Amino acid sequence: MENKNDIKNRIEKLKKEINYHRHSYHVLDKSEISDAALDSLKNELFKLEQVYPEFITPDSPTQRVGGKPLDKFKKARHSSPMMSLFDAFREEDMRDWEERLYRIMNYELRIKNKIDYYCELKLDGLAAALIYKNGLLVRGATRGDGKVGEDVTRNLKTIEAIPLSLREPSENELKKIGFSAKECENIRQIILNGNVEARGEVIMTKKVFNELNKKYKKEGRAELANPRNGAAGSIRQLDSILTAERRLDFYVYGMNLTPSLSLVRRGGEVFKKHEQEHELAKLLGFKVVKENRYCKNLDEVIKFHHTQEKNKEKLGFECDGIVAKVNDLSLWLRLGVVGKGPRYIMAYKFAAEQATTKVKEVNWQVGRTGTITPVALLKPVQVGGVTVTHATLHNMDEIKRLGLKIGDTVILERAGDVIPKVVEVLPKLRDGSEKKILVPSNCPMCESKVERVEGEVAFRCTNKNCYAVNLRRLSHWASKGALDIEGLGPKIIEQLVKEGLVSDISDFYILTEGDLKPLERFADKSAENLIKALDEKKEIDLDKFIYGLGIRHVGEESAIDLAKKFGSLDNIKKAGLKDFEKIYDFGSVMAKSVFDWFHDEHNQGLLKKLEKNGIVVKSQKSKVKSQKLSGKTFVLTGSMNSLTRDEAKAKIRELGGDVSSSVSKKTDYVVAGVDPGSKYEKAKKLGVKVINEEEFLELIK
Ligand code: IVH
Repeated sequence: MENKNDIKNRIEKLKKEINYHRHSYHVLDKSEISDAALDSLKNELFKLEQVYPEFITPDSPTQRVGGKPLDKFKKARHSSPMMSLFDAFREEDMRDWEERLYRIMNYELRIKNKIDYYCELKLDGLAAALIYKNGLLVRGATRGDGKVGEDVTRNLKTIEAIPLSLREPSENELKKIGFSAKECENIRQIILNGNVEARGEVIMTKKVFNELNKKYKKEGRAELANPRNGAAGSIRQLDSILTAERRLDFYVYGMNLTPSLSLVRRGGEVFKKHEQEHELAKLLGFKVVKENRYCKNLDEVIKFHHTQEKNKEKLGFECDGIVAKVNDLSLWLRLGVVGKGPRYIMAYKFAAEQATTKVKEVNWQVGRTGTITPVALLKPVQVGGVTVTHATLHNMDEIKRLGLKIGDTVILERAGDVIPKVVEVLPKLRDGSEKKILVPSNCPMCESKVERVEGEVAFRCTNKNCYAVNLRRLSHWASKGALDIEGLGPKIIEQLVKEGLVSDISDFYILTEGDLKPLERFADKSAENLIKALDEKKEIDLDKFIYGLGIRHVGEESAIDLAKKFGSLDNIKKAGLKDFEKIYDFGSVMAKSVFDWFHDEHNQGLLKKLEKNGIVVKSQKSKVKSQKLSGKTFVLTGSMNSLTRDEAKAKIRELGGDVSSSVSKKTDYVVAGVDPGSKYEKAKKLGVKVINEEEFLELIK
C-alpha cells in the first residue's frame, strides 16, 4: 500500500467487515466466516493500527473487550469471573510464559524445577457454569461478559451429559484421589449441603453435527455453519425442545466447592491440585476429556500439544488447541490474574486452518492433456502452521463462482495436509484496483493458441507437445550440467507442475516449505532440503545459466563460449547477430538461435522474473586466470590418465584458451589421449598439430 490515504481506507474497510461478522456471530447467532478467518482480518487491522496509531478509533474492533448478554434470558451473575485465556502459538511463547512464572515467583521454584502442569484439550464450544445446591442442579449460565451471563438452565438440562443431581462419591474413592479422611468428610458435606460449581464446555460432536446437517438439508432447513455454532446457537435460544433435538454434550474443566450458601471465590481450600478437580468431577457424574493428562514439566506439555495436534482429526469433537494449567493450586493465588485472564493458565493453540490474504496474480498451468488451469499467486501467509504462496483455483467456473479478481482479499483454507484453496472472496475489502481474470488467448508456455474444450469448462493449449516440452525444459534447468539442484528430479518436477506450483523456471524460486509439505513425495525434511538446495544456487555462473535456459542448439560447450566471449548476461542481451556469428565454432544457425532467444518478448519476461525472484547471474571473466593459451583452440580426443576431460577443458579455459568439439583448419592443437577417435585422423589429414598427454601437461603447467 503506497500512501496514507490507502491505509486509512483499508483500515475503515477492515473495521466494517469485522464488525459485520461480529454482529452476525454474537447477536444473530450465525457466522458466515470461520473464527480463524476473522482473526486473520483482526490481525491485519491490529498490525496496521500499530504502525499508524493515528488511525485507531474508540470503536475499532481491536479496542473491544468481552461480549454482552442477550436480553431475552434472565441475567446470571457468576460466583467469580469467567475469565478468558491467553493464547500461545509457538513453543517459544510457552517457554516465555514459564519464564515469566518463575520470575514472578523470584525463581525460587526453578532451582527445584517444581512447576508441573495439568494439560487439557481446548474444546471449541460454549462455556457454561453449573451450580448445584445441596446436590441438585439449580442454575446453568453462559459466560456472557464474564461477570454476568445468561440463565440457560432449561436448555442445559436437556444435555444428557449434565447430571441433574450429583453422584455421591464414597470415602474410598475420594481417598484414592488424594484426600485425607477429614477432607473426604468435608467434601461429602459440601456435596450434600453446600455449593458445587462445575464449569466446562458445551459442545456438539462432529457426528451429531453431520447427522443434523444431513437431516436439515433433506428437510430444506438452514444448515449449521459448524459444530461450535451448533452448540452456541442451541443453548442461546428460547425453545428448549429445539435444544434437546441438538443432542449437545458437556465436558467439565474446572470445579469449585464452597460450604456456605453464598457463592464465594475459590480459595483452594478443598483442592490442592487442579488435577483433583477433574478426578472429582468424574466421581460426581460429569464427563471429562479422556485425553487430558498430567505433565511433569513444560517439555511434556509441548509434547502433549504436538501429539494432540496430529491426532485432532480423529477426535469426536472440534478442538483448537490445548490448555496448560499450573497444577499446584497454591501457586494460582500467588500468580494471580492480569487483564482478561489468569497467569497460571495458557492456551497453546493449534495452527489455524484458515487465514486471509491477497491474490497477487493468477498463473496458468498447462497440464498433461494440454488443459490450462488457473493458480492463485498469494501474498505469503501463514496457514495451518506453514507459509504458503499458492492456491488452486481449479477452473474458470470456480473463479466465477468465487467472484474472484486479481488483487482481492480472500479466505484461504489449508485443512490437514492438502494444497490450500481459496474458499471465499471478501469483495467489501476492494479498493477499485482489482483486475478481472481473463483466460489467456495464447498459451503462457509455448504461445500456441488456446481453445475451449467443447462442452467443458476447461481451456486447452492447442500444441500437443506443450506439456512434455515444458517438463523437459524445467528438468533441464535442474539437471547436472546446468544448475544441478539436488532433490529436483523429473518426477518431483512433474509433481510440482501438476499441482500448479511451477510453470516456468522462475517459479522454483518462490516456493516455500509450506507449498511443498502437503505434496505426496515430500516429508518435512525433504521440503526443507529442496528449498535450501534452491536457495544455495541462486547465484549462478553465466555459463551454467545460459546452458540451463535450454536455448536451441546451445550445449554446454557453446554456453561456455558465450559466457567467455561476453562476460556478462547484460552483454549477451545487448549483442547483435553479428557478434554471435563471430564466435569460433558458432554457425549462423546457432548464432541466430541465440540472438532470437534473447530478443523474444516472452523470454525477456522470464529473465526479468528470474531476477525478481532472486537469481543473480555471475559474470564469467573471473574464471580466466591467465592469457597463456589466449587465441589457441584445442580439440580433445581419447582419454588421459591424469585428468578427466572436464578437468582438461577447465584448465584450457582458465588459461584463456578455447575448446572445440570438431577439428578444422582453425584448430591449433588436437590432444590425443589413449584410444583416440576419428578426430585424430582428421587432424593428421588437415595437418593440425597433434600432441600427447605429456606435451599437453607441459603446455598447461
Ligand atoms: S479453563 C480462566 N479449560 O476456552 C478461564 N477453558 O478462551 C478458564 N475452553 O471460555 C477456562 N476448553 O470456554 C479452560 N480445557 C479448558 C477449555 C477451556 C475450552 C474455553 C472456555 C473459555 C475459553 C477461553
